[in-house]
Amino acid sequence: MNLAKRIRSVTPSLTLAIEAKAKRLKQEGVDVVSFSAGEPDFDTPEPIKKAAINSLAKGFTKYTPASGTLELRKAIAEKLSRENQLNYSPEQIVVSCGAKHSIYNMLQVLIEEGDEVILLSPYWLSYPEMVTLAGGKSVILRTELKDGYVPSPKALEKLVTKKTKLLILNSPSNPTGAVLSRELLMEIVQIARKHSFFILSDEIYEKLLFDGQRHHSIGALDPSIFDRVITVGGASKSYAMTGWRLGFSASDKPIAEACASLQSHSTSNPTSFAQAGYLEALKSGEADVKRMCAAFETRRDLMFRLVSDIPKLKPFKPSGAFYLFVGISATNMKSLQFSEGLLDQAKVAVVPGVAFGDDQAIRISFATSEELIEKGISRIREWLSRNFH
Ligand SMILES: Cc1ncc(COP(=O)(O)O)c(C=O)c1O
Repeated sequence: MNLAKRIRSVTPSLTLAIEAKAKRLKQEGVDVVSFSAGEPDFDTPEPIKKAAINSLAKGFTKYTPASGTLELRKAIAEKLSRENQLNYSPEQIVVSCGAKHSIYNMLQVLIEEGDEVILLSPYWLSYPEMVTLAGGKSVILRTELKDGYVPSPKALEKLVTKKTKLLILNSPSNPTGAVLSRELLMEIVQIARKHSFFILSDEIYEKLLFDGQRHHSIGALDPSIFDRVITVGGASKSYAMTGWRLGFSASDKPIAEACASLQSHSTSNPTSFAQAGYLEALKSGEADVKRMCAAFETRRDLMFRLVSDIPKLKPFKPSGAFYLFVGISATNMKSLQFSEGLLDQAKVAVVPGVAFGDDQAIRISFATSEELIEKGISRIREWLSRNFH
């Protein structure tokens, strides 16, 4: 089959593949503990569901403007001003089918053949593939567990060339849960100013922060680079709305217009009644966010404690999101071998770090119950002690 070159260079999402395998085994009756999902295990809060159901009942079932309803874009602009100190008008907001779609659109709009995009590794696995699909080249800035998975500004600046078009930041990070401090973001701002590249700030986990941490939007730190920052957010992780497919980008007007135009010829608007649910989430969802975040923090503490006790595993304590990134180099296994062995022999699904550009680690999601965390981690402990003693 002669498929287009553009798709031949792309690898399907490994996280989705592992989650699918774990689900298949479960359907076959196998007692699998899955730590592979990239989504909250909570149900979407009731008022959000009701708002979508009411809008359906009222016949809100037609096309909306391609970038989303004005009401929702206004609510997002208000949220960005109130919570993130970012002043965007509704015309600068494009609502898309998930933050994934927002990032995809942005790369299509900004990146030309041969442009370089700097990514911090370990990275969210879709970034490099989306860069490739846009014709760009990913340039990887490695971060290490010993540095808390945050980059040094010097190392960043060393990677900048004349072709650098964009830097993608993701704080809190998937897969490490590392949070970039305000001070570091300020230093990154200086480098971006000096070399005039764009920054895409993926803030999808902004509300899932632990230990009293505060979120900082890089776009709010210096008015002189505001036009060069694209802020991305969405409903999925904060409000347990992954299946609803709602995300947004906020950017300089010409970029937003280009993005809206691209979207108008591909998906058109995100689902009408799902938008009504997101509107409600922005209005009344904060108490539910706090409840879920507190549960994630308790689970993080539990999982971190249990994994820290296992010889040969080296977890990083995340400050946000819902993943534990665990170094496995002492096991002398590559991450895929580790994950496949663990799923086949101990019936625990985790994501191999190679998917995130780090073959010496695995990602374990704690977006699951405390009971399953105890059960799954004790299986990992037994599996490792059976294989290495
Ligand atoms: C870092 C990061 N960005 C963006 C997304 C996309 O989220 P969604 O498309 O569900 O809004 C995800 C989802 O896993 C993610 O982990």
